[in-house]
Amino acid sequence: MDIESFVLDVVDVVDETADARSISLAVPPGAEEKFAYRPGQFLTVAVPSDLTGVAARCYSLSSSPHDGGPLTVTVKRTAEGYASNWLCDHVEVGGSLRVLPPSGIFSPADLDRELLLFAGGSGVTPIMSIVRTALAHGAGRITVLYANRDEASVIFADELSRLAREHPDRLQVVHWLESVQGLPTAEQMRAVAAQHPAADAFVCGPAPFMKMVTGVLKELEFPRERRHQEKFVSLGGNPFGDVAELRQAEEEIEAAESEEGAEPMLAGPVKLEVELDGETHTFDDWDPKQTMLDFLEAKGVKAPFSCREGECSACAIRLLQGDMRMAHNDVLDEEDLEDGIRLGCQSHPLTDTVKVSYS
Ligand SMILES: Cc1cc2nc3c(=O)[nH]c(=O)nc-3n(C[C@H](O)[C@H](O)[C@H](O)COP(=O)(O)OP(=O)(O)OC[C@H]3O[C@@H](n4cnc5c(N)ncnc54)[C@H](O)[C@@H]3O)c2cc1C
Ligand code: FES
Repeated sequence: MDIESFVLDVVDVVDETADARSISLAVPPGAEEKFAYRPGQFLTVAVPSDLTGVAARCYSLSSSPHDGGPLTVTVKRTAEGYASNWLCDHVEVGGSLRVLPPSGIFSPADLDRELLLFAGGSGVTPIMSIVRTALAHGAGRITVLYANRDEASVIFADELSRLAREHPDRLQVVHWLESVQGLPTAEQMRAVAAQHPAADAFVCGPAPFMKMVTGVLKELEFPRERRHQEKFVSLGGNPFGDVAELRQAEEEIEAAESEEGAEPMLAGPVKLEVELDGETHTFDDWDPKQTMLDFLEAKGVKAPFSCREGECSACAIRLLQGDMRMAHNDVLDEEDLEDGIRLGCQSHPLTDTVKVSYS
């Protein structure tokens, strides 16, 4: 089965800072439903490459899904990076980009709740989408702590100031400049977070910043369901490519792992119940050799995914009953696993019945 990608026209390109550009894309007529998104979700972009054909990279949407505008991603150049520099150098109005529809779980379940948003550098992109959307369609207070190297590297500085002026009772933006205040410390971030103990917290930025802030949130006993983080990593594989090749690679990994003494596969068939987009799908013929994502696709269920390699969490589900093991996992931590979160693209059943939810 081919993975459904779409070619979107570039309708605007804006330089946000010296090394970050926003690229706006028009949704093709008829594909509106596929491109409906929640604030905080991302697109997977196929960046052309002479070397590999395609370099697939995820970019969070900075636009709001509710303002009727085009889809906008904001790309910051990574030093020595291939795709980010290609996008900043080559994308022009009138051109086009091939993308996979929006994906991801870094999104508030309730826009009316109080939100506490920590962003570092380009990590502001999904945070911006959440701010724009929650101000227009939510009711809670929003605090943004936004850390940057220096003033020149602050993306969306003017818009954040404007929004804070327009919504003084709802939005507070605290800028943190390394050039002025030094690197933010755990103690300083704790002082900010402690003022908002009931908020839904979102963290996106460089790895050390995220580790420090999520550590602080844990210490302050923010429960797991109110602590969200988005890791900006480059995909190793190519979800635009030949799925058969990817599956063969997955099977090879699985075979190697079972030789290394991983838990043996069930004989099957396995019963699977899946809650997705308000519907419940029930099957009783899941072959344990298939990943959950492959099985659902074979059954015609449009389950979310992006990398298919355990690297992005677009396919994350919550276990409601039974257990599954993953062939590969680069994104979920111990606590996620204890909370029953699994990656559908990597999961094989360990029990005769499995129930999961995508919400
Ligand atoms: C969910 C998610 C959301 C994200 N959102 C954003 C966002 O909003 N904004 C943002 O800026 N970033 C975002 N990122 C990060 C983004 O996906 C990339 O990781 C980032 O832009 C760096 O990619 P890069 O190719 O420039 O750098 P690197 O990945 O560091 O580039 C080096 C890699 O490219 C390969 N390479 C080198 N030359 C070539 C070539 N000619 N052809 C093919 N491959 C080559 C190398 O082998 C090496 O693996 C997000 C990531 C995730 C997972
Ligand atoms: S699709 Fe990326 S982790 Fe499963």
